Amino acid sequence: MPAWVVAHGRGARNAGGRTLTHTQMKRIADPRLRSSGRALGRSLHYPFQEISVRIVENGRETPGSGPQPGAKPAVGRRRVGIAVVGVGGAVATTAAAGVEILRGGTNRRLDGLPLASVSVPGLAAYDDIVFRGWDLNGQTLAEAAAEHRVLNDDQLAMTGPALATVRPWPAVASSAFCRNIEGANQHAARTHRDAIAAIIADLLRFRREGELDGTVVINLASVERTAADHPVLCSLDAFERALDANDPAIGPAMLYAYAAIEAGVPYGNFTPSSAADVPALVEMSRRRRVPVAGKDGKTGQTLMKTVLAPALRARNLHVDGWFSTNILGNRDGEALRDPDSLQSKLGTKGRVLDSILGYKVEDHIVDIRYYRPRGDDKEAWDNIDLSGFLGHRMQIKVNFLCKDSVLAAPLVLEIARVLDLAHQRGESGPQEQLSLFFKAPMTANGHAPEHAFPVQERMLHEWLSAGA
Ligand SMILES: NC(=O)c1ccc[n+]([C@@H]2O[C@H](COP(=O)([O-])OP(=O)(O)OC[C@H]3O[C@@H](n4cnc5c(N)ncnc54)[C@H](O)[C@@H]3O)[C@@H](O)[C@H]2O)c1
Repeated sequence: MPAWVVAHGRGARNAGGRTLTHTQMKRIADPRLRSSGRALGRSLHYPFQEISVRIVENGRETPGSGPQPGAKPAVGRRRVGIAVVGVGGAVATTAAAGVEILRGGTNRRLDGLPLASVSVPGLAAYDDIVFRGWDLNGQTLAEAAAEHRVLNDDQLAMTGPALATVRPWPAVASSAFCRNIEGANQHAARTHRDAIAAIIADLLRFRREGELDGTVVINLASVERTAADHPVLCSLDAFERALDANDPAIGPAMLYAYAAIEAGVPYGNFTPSSAADVPALVEMSRRRRVPVAGKDGKTGQTLMKTVLAPALRARNLHVDGWFSTNILGNRDGEALRDPDSLQSKLGTKGRVLDSILGYKVEDHIVDIRYYRPRGDDKEAWDNIDLSGFLGHRMQIKVNFLCKDSVLAAPLVLEIARVLDLAHQRGESGPQEQLSLFFKAPMTANGHAPEHAFPVQERMLHEWLSAGA
């Protein structure tokens, strides 16, 4: 059976000078190309310029080009690039500014960074992280950060010069998936395949120009509507055919995730949007040996829920009802005014309780309201009704006055560092050890996720120390 090379990349040329259009299966007749193609499966460089290649031989695809499972990461510093979908957003600009402040050395405190005291080979240092990415809004990160009003004046002044040099790459977007957020900074891509090629080209340019040792894609874009369980999302073959047909069931978050996996870049989804968690892309991440994680960052109210619920369960205090309400006035809240986007968020927020407690809480209500005066200072209230010994009733009230992006930004840094480490260790597919950072954690074999915070924390630390 002959060797096949599947090449992705617009106008890429092979060593014989022949032009390859993206997503074409080329039978490589020239034996010189075939052997260089094989080598390429590992090196991802010359002679196919900036394209990712996989080899299909005897009907079986060779594994991805990353390290083998159990590989030992090199000791020493590594420069890691985070390519953010939604890089001009409140969370992304706070994370990028945070890294600049840490790099400047003026803030020696690492509050809010859960893995600040962890030191294992291959885990990038915070100040070796570089931010770039895509956004519908073409403002520089300095302009965007000033508008979000998360950072104080000193912090804006301190980080302004560095953030002013970063302008978002044109985004891939669809108003059918996210109605309330618009912007002119968009790729002209007319087809799904064009969009993927453009995203991959951005990633490869970032890796080359940034002289990066590792790259990670993190989705921090506005919440998209939930993708229905459409048949084209259920297997990689069906998904690939749907890409070719420009199927409207595939949304932007999935295109970014596909492109990242195709380029061999680890992918994390901090939003509730459907992305690497659709079965087709889980399958692809395993086949291509790329680590993925998600979804929907666990920062405030759900964090409290997954801390409190295990304690109530341990004391056998029965939860009769749990009423959760939030007000927020940032752009994320604006996106959530669209009922379809809101449904995605309610879906990930609503899942945690029953699985921790082991029974269904009939009156578990989650309410999220956009309330402009609050900006990024989200407020969450929880009322919990309990039954104790001899049927006596009690209540707990929790009122968390948080700063949404200040809680979220450090988690983004940790997710990216751990995904980069997982890639060096040769791991692939859903990374369950990252469960403690997500409201709806992806699991390796499709089993129910672990939601209890103390168990999730142990899982991550065991994973980190296993490779130390
Ligand atoms: N802040 C938190 O505590 C928290 C917690 C969990 C999840 N999240 C999720 O993280 C995401 C980011 O939150 P945020 O507060 O920074 O939101 P934000 O609205 O400030 O930022 C989102 C950015 O994404 C951009 N965008 C929208 N569609 C895009 C596309 N297709 N491609 C590229 N860019 C696109 C927007 O222009 C905007 O700049 C949201 O989905 C939010 O639900 C946040």
